[in-house]
Amino acid sequence: MDKIVIRGGAPLKGTVTISGSKNATLPIMAASILGNGSCTIHNVPDLVDIATMARIMERFGVKSERENHTLTIHPAKLTSWEAPYDLVRTMRASFLVLGPLLARLGKARVSLPGGCAIGPRPIDMHLKALEELGARIRVEKGYVEASARRLKGATVGLDIPTVTGTENIMMAACLAQGRTVIENAAREPEVVDLAEFLKKMGARISGEGSSVITIEGVKSLKRPVEHAVIPDRVEAGTFLIAAMITRSRLTLQGVSPECFGTVESKLKEAGARIEFHNNQCTIQGPRLVRAENITTSPYPGFPTDLQAQWMALMAVAGGTSTITETMFENRYMQAAELMRMGAQIKLRGQSAVIKGVPHLSGAKVMASDLRASAALILAGLVARGKTEIRRIYHLDRGYERIEEKLKALGARIERVKDR
Ligand code: EPZ
Repeated sequence: MDKIVIRGGAPLKGTVTISGSKNATLPIMAASILGNGSCTIHNVPDLVDIATMARIMERFGVKSERENHTLTIHPAKLTSWEAPYDLVRTMRASFLVLGPLLARLGKARVSLPGGCAIGPRPIDMHLKALEELGARIRVEKGYVEASARRLKGATVGLDIPTVTGTENIMMAACLAQGRTVIENAAREPEVVDLAEFLKKMGARISGEGSSVITIEGVKSLKRPVEHAVIPDRVEAGTFLIAAMITRSRLTLQGVSPECFGTVESKLKEAGARIEFHNNQCTIQGPRLVRAENITTSPYPGFPTDLQAQWMALMAVAGGTSTITETMFENRYMQAAELMRMGAQIKLRGQSAVIKGVPHLSGAKVMASDLRASAALILAGLVARGKTEIRRIYHLDRGYERIEEKLKALGARIERVKDR
């Protein structure tokens, strides 16, 4: 087991290259199952979750090889349609193989993903929509068994703009007979990137990025595809907040304004100066961060995946702020650890009230989930003294060697063996 050790107080300086998006890569990998042509995907981040998805696809007989940040997938022949519990339970996003398997083979047996640290995370909307497309769905012994001779296009209304729900339905609809309209679809950039990839495969999709996506089903998708994944907007947002919390000037390479939605305006309200130039973004953190309230919501609202990082920033802001987490039931686990570092946080239901303090103190803390881990790193960068963060396997699921990137910017941060 590793741990991360940070000695706080060092300012950051320089340029950091943002990796490709984990949450765009995962559905795109699953989408490759829809066709039998090879897929070459560039800008793929080197993450545990990506390796897990490749392992799951190997179970279907889909080979893939990786060279640096390029992943080549060969989905020509599928030998199985079952995604087993032992792999799905380690990564919920594995559930994204359900739609493609069902559309390509007419059958799929995928383990229910179960909950995770941040909430029960049901997939009822995925299943209801696939039934509306004509699938027969049975849930038994912890598995979803789905079958359909050929899915039929339909208009599907989502109660919540679920990201992976939209992605599963959009992928399944590509090979359905007739037109599918997804109403109240998720608008995230990762959904748009998946649609771009599917269109390169020969799918007929329009409206992606809006809340109504239309898919005209086709009989098959045979084209080999080459695609470069969009940048990871959560990693980018994490580095912007790193610049804010350490009062530094940083340049992020490989990003675009679309990455940020309302995050950019929120950071500016908190005192940031941000400029974009081509695919770079430069931020100057203020001497004193202003306390600003946020409410998480679907894109283009403030992303729930940056909520924990924002809480770390507000812990040292000048004033009191409120965070309202509307997306998940249990996404404040970083609060208790931040309080061990001296943060003043009161949790009430969906809300957290944070009273900024002049400084945090380094401490031994525990990571609980992917984005909470990032929040603890941000707090450690600015805390007085040494911070030790354990259970950083959470971090490795979604950040590509973040400690090396921060060290290159001047942070006093090490990954060491946790004896
Ligand atoms: C995606 O998860 C992301 N994961 C999450 O990122 C992200 O936090 C989330 O979207 C919200 O933006 C991937 O893209 C792989 P949802 P997803 O379905 O699709 C409820 C990270 O850190 N819901 O949009 O699972 C659900 O409980 C991860 O990278 C249902 O009730 O999220 C939640 O309250 C964490 N029924 C809300 O909708 C359903 O059938 C939004 O969830 C589906 C969802």
